Formats: sequence, C-alpha cells, structure tokens
Amino acid sequence: MKNLLVTGGCGFIGTNFVRYLLSAKCKKTGFNGRIINVDKLTYAGNPFNLAEFEKKYPDRYSFVKSDICDVKAMEGIFDRFKIDSICHFAAESHVDRSIAEPDTFIKTNINGTFTLLELARKNQDRLLLFHHVSTDEVFGSLGNQGFFTEKTPYDPSSPYSASKAASDHLVRAYARTYGLPVTISNCSNNYGPYQFPEKLIPLMILNSFKGKPLPVYGEGFNVRDWLYVADHCRAIFEIMKKGKRGETYNIGGHCEMTNIDVVTRICSMLDEKIPQKNGKPRKDLIRFVKDRPGHDLRYAIDSSKLEKELGWVPEESFDTGLEKTIDWYLDNEGWVKMVIDGEYRKWIEKHYEE
Ligand code: NAD
Ligand code: TYD
Repeated sequence: MKNLLVTGGCGFIGTNFVRYLLSAKCKKTGFNGRIINVDKLTYAGNPFNLAEFEKKYPDRYSFVKSDICDVKAMEGIFDRFKIDSICHFAAESHVDRSIAEPDTFIKTNINGTFTLLELARKNQDRLLLFHHVSTDEVFGSLGNQGFFTEKTPYDPSSPYSASKAASDHLVRAYARTYGLPVTISNCSNNYGPYQFPEKLIPLMILNSFKGKPLPVYGEGFNVRDWLYVADHCRAIFEIMKKGKRGETYNIGGHCEMTNIDVVTRICSMLDEKIPQKNGKPRKDLIRFVKDRPGHDLRYAIDSSKLEKELGWVPEESFDTGLEKTIDWYLDNEGWVKMVIDGEYRKWIEKHYEE
C-alpha cells in the first residue's frame, strides 16, 4: 500500500486511524506509505484534527477537501495520487440525524460508496485493496440472547443502518462481479478521543461535567457492545494487511452494557475526579426521555473469526478506555469549544472554495 486513500479522515474514527498509521508503533508493523485523506468537512469533520501532519510529514500525509459523491473531483484524486488502496470511512453516522433527515445518508453512504467503487473498478490494474468500514447496526436488533456473526442476515432498522447495509451489499457485489479486492469490517459502538459530542458517551461526559441534564432514551435498558476506538483502528489495519480478500470480519469488544449503566459509570468516574461544587452525585442529572423510534434493543458482536484468523484482541477494558476518554475530553476544552461553537466553520469557508 503505497498511496492509501482514506475517506472521512477528519471524523472521529478516521482521525484516530490516520494518527495510528502515522505513529511510530505502526511504522514498525508495516505501513510506510502515503495517506491521502479526502473529507467533505461536514459538521462532523474537523480539519484541525490532523492539520499538524501536513507540515510534519509532507511526504506521507495530504489532505484534500472533497465530497466522495463528486465523480470529477474523485477521478482527479485517483489520477493525481495514483491511489492503490482505499480505506473508506466517510459516512453520515448518527442514527438520530438519519431519522430526522435521511437524505444525506442516502447520498453519501450509498451513492458515495458507489462512486468510489466505480473508480476502484476503473483503476483495478493497480488496486490492491478496497477496505469498507461498516457497522454491526446492519444486522438489526438482537433479543436478550445470541451474538451477531458474519453470517447473521441483514435486517437494518434506521435510515442510517439501511444505508450502510446498502453500501456493504454494493462492496460485496463488486467483489463477486468484477473481482475487486475488498474486505469489509462490521464493528460495534466506538468511543474515545475526537468523537463529535452528539453520540452517547461524549455527550454524557460533557453534559455531566457542566451539570446539564443527561437525556436517556426510554428506560435506558438498550444494550450496546462498546469498543475503544484505538482497538477498532488496530483491527482495521490488521484486516487490511492480513485479511482474506472478499471476506467480512466482525469487530467487537465483548463489552455489553445497558445505556443506563454506561451513563451511571460516566457520572461516578467524573464524581471521583472532579466532585460537583454542590456536593451532589451527577447521576441525579439523569432524565428519562422519549424513546428513539425503531430503537434497536441490543447489539452484541461475536468477533471470534477476527481473533482466531488474525490474532486480534482488544487491549482496553471499558473502565480503562472510559478513563482515557474522560481525561481526553477534560484536557481538550479547546477542541470541544471549537466543535460545539462550530468556530472552525468560518475558517473552512475562508480556506476552501466551495
Ligand atoms: P463521523 O461522523 O465522526 O465522521 C464522518 C466523516 O466523514 C466526517 O469527517 C465527515 O466530514 C466525512 N464525510 C461525510 N460525508 C462525506 C462526503 N460526502 N464526502 C467526504 N467526506 C464525508 O463518523 P465516525 O463515527 O468516525 O464513523 C466512521 C465510519 O465508521 C462510518 O462509515 C461509520 O458507519 C463507521 N462506524 C462507526 C461506528 C461508531 O461507533 N462511530 C461504529 C462502527 C462503524
Ligand atoms: P449513539 O451513541 O447515538 O449510537 P447508536 O445509536 O449508533 O448505537 O447511541 C447509543 C445508545 O445510547 C443508543 O441506544 C441510543 C442511546 N442514547 C441515549 O439514550 N441518549 C442520547 O442522548 C443519545 C445520543 C443516545
């Protein structure tokens, strides 16, 4: 992989992935190529997350602001940078937004993936890999028993998960029909640094820190299988290096928690670190609010294929990962202010012509 296109590198997982690939640790394990990060910089993409690398590693990291749906622009990028491998993160990713406004989910997640697949097909002579980053939400909801395996039938519930399911099907179809060298990963819920504070964990960290209400949907009994983002990034890279072409791998942390347990744990960890001035426990801030429509009850991943075939195991427990995450949000007030105020949007308008 000499010229790796990373799409959506300015978002949460993409940022962590690029940082991982450029780290000294990863250099040792086999990535010496160049990263071309293409991101549209939607509300969820922050160009400052990786800006330091443009100066630090001008030969190894480039950023291009572009929409993956823009065929001409993407064609230009494939030609200019001689793209030989792709790790595709770019997506609209928030379930609640997909319920309110599904339109962009269809455009980016389905049409955007289609655009990339077509370009990969046209450049197939030099293409080594198209890795597609996806979610366990494509499988729909589990009851109280069982786990998602790679063979679980797709049964998505939200416009977000349906659009990701469609993109997974397209990627698989391109492998079967055109022989495109693909791998797909379906991962459980991630948490960690750089996550936009609309998702459960960063939202609850920031609200509880500020003494604001903590909205828990329904009764808080929905279960998610949490994975620290660095473990996800390591898994993706292992799949890219050693995964069998045409195969799918589930990624998960064996870490099922109800939402109410997650929120309570955040409250107690923050209380230990910085007690509230009024002396009250932060769990008093929890408010049960109207449930999300079509809310999946439970996700749980069986990642034994990845563990057995590629030797990957998660390194962080929920407590160690959560502590790192809370510390990161407390130490990075500037980043939080920037994304909440949207202050950098003005900078984007000035620096990039639409
Ligand atoms: P995110 O919302 O934080 O980041 C998405 C990035 O994609 C942003 O930088 C955004 O600007 C960019 N983007 C959006 N539309 C674009 C377009 N049309 N063209 C170019 N760039 C565009 O998302 P995330 O949480 O980092 O998720 C990344 C990927 O991982 C997604 O494909 C998501 O489905 C998948 N995933 C996420 C999780 C999770 O828990 N967050 C779990 C499993 C899989
Ligand atoms: P979220 O972080 O949006 O991820 P996803 O919907 O992709 O799993 O939500 C995680 C869980 O937390 C989900 O069951 C919905 C719930 N939730 C709340 O209870 N309150 C909130 O404010 C949010 C954002 C989510």
